[in-house]
Amino acid sequence: MKIHTVLPALALLAALPAQAQDIKVGAILPYSGVYASIGEEITNAMAMAFEEAGNAVNGRALKIIRADTETKPNVAAAKARELVTSDNVDFLVGPVASSEAMAIRDFVHQSKIPLVMPNAGANVLTGEKCSPYIVRVGFSNDQFVRPTGKWLFDKGVKSAFLLAPDYAAGRELMGGFKKSFTAAGGKIVGEEYSPFGQTSDFGPYLAKVKDAKPDAVFVFYAGSEAINFIKQAADFQLAKSVKITGAAWTVSPLFLPAQGEAAAGFLGSLNYVPALDNPANKAFQAKYQERHKRVASEFGAAGYESGRLIVEALKRTQGATKDKKAVIEAMHKVEMNGPRGPVKIDPATNNVIQNIYMVEARKGAGGKVDLAVVDTIANVKDDVNGCAMSW
Ligand code: PHB
Repeated sequence: MKIHTVLPALALLAALPAQAQDIKVGAILPYSGVYASIGEEITNAMAMAFEEAGNAVNGRALKIIRADTETKPNVAAAKARELVTSDNVDFLVGPVASSEAMAIRDFVHQSKIPLVMPNAGANVLTGEKCSPYIVRVGFSNDQFVRPTGKWLFDKGVKSAFLLAPDYAAGRELMGGFKKSFTAAGGKIVGEEYSPFGQTSDFGPYLAKVKDAKPDAVFVFYAGSEAINFIKQAADFQLAKSVKITGAAWTVSPLFLPAQGEAAAGFLGSLNYVPALDNPANKAFQAKYQERHKRVASEFGAAGYESGRLIVEALKRTQGATKDKKAVIEAMHKVEMNGPRGPVKIDPATNNVIQNIYMVEARKGAGGKVDLAVVDTIANVKDDVNGCAMSW
């Protein structure tokens, strides 16, 4: 390049205000391992929210940097560090597994980089180990299942067998259900925890459930484990003697196409279904389906709303990201009426306040299985649970 072309270019660079730097969002998500499909969908939907804002706020471009956690806590910890110290991200969005979130918690708190969580439900992150820099858009594990214990008991489920992967989320989801189910008068007749990410044969667990003769099995699986479990439970004809209930990610619209009719009859809780009848959801589904040729699930809704929360907060700070406290306080002011319905962040814990839907997987015309809402528990909010915010 000749000198007279270089000089004006340099002068132009120097004249650009610091504000014009990109806003970097580190997507700390599984793109491989058990929860790979979840990481992809969250990223797709977040990108859609950024696109709707023109991929920029106040002239600063929004850029997503992907980092694959492989659904492993130690990899998540290394990737979080890399995103913050090498890529200089302004935000982190992720992870999916509670165990991954626990592994990055202290680093996030110390580095003061806002972490927006679309999924990982580990209770303590908006309880005893809350942080002003950790904002939960997804759910806490307890929030998700707390309403289900009494609900199922009132519908005639008097005894239950618990089944989940053996890691933080599986234990917490079963613990939350057990507490509300037994408080309502229900009896737990057995519980099993399968090695997380290592179980593809659920046969021995299905046999144990059947032998215990409960009214229902209350189950949580996601990703490839959910697909395998539901198909094998159908082959085993478990539903002939035991009602299959649980945290309804197990039959997420993300996994339903692979599960097919095997999923029909599942009853449980979820914070979103594609059929929700509100204008924001209709627009969201139309755009997602056009782009990705399939229905968006609750993981997409949470990824989209994570992106929306970041955009709306940045609009309030005029695109400024340096003052982290100002960014988080702006997030507290955002009230979204998005695909999920009304959603806001509780400033006392940074946990989301949202509706929990009781849903049933129903076979429709042509044998296609979809989720129908059978009840809505509005504005479910967690207690403070030992959270004391310290900046
Ligand atoms: C979690 O580990 O917190 C988790 C993972 C997948 C889900 C729900 C919760 O679908």
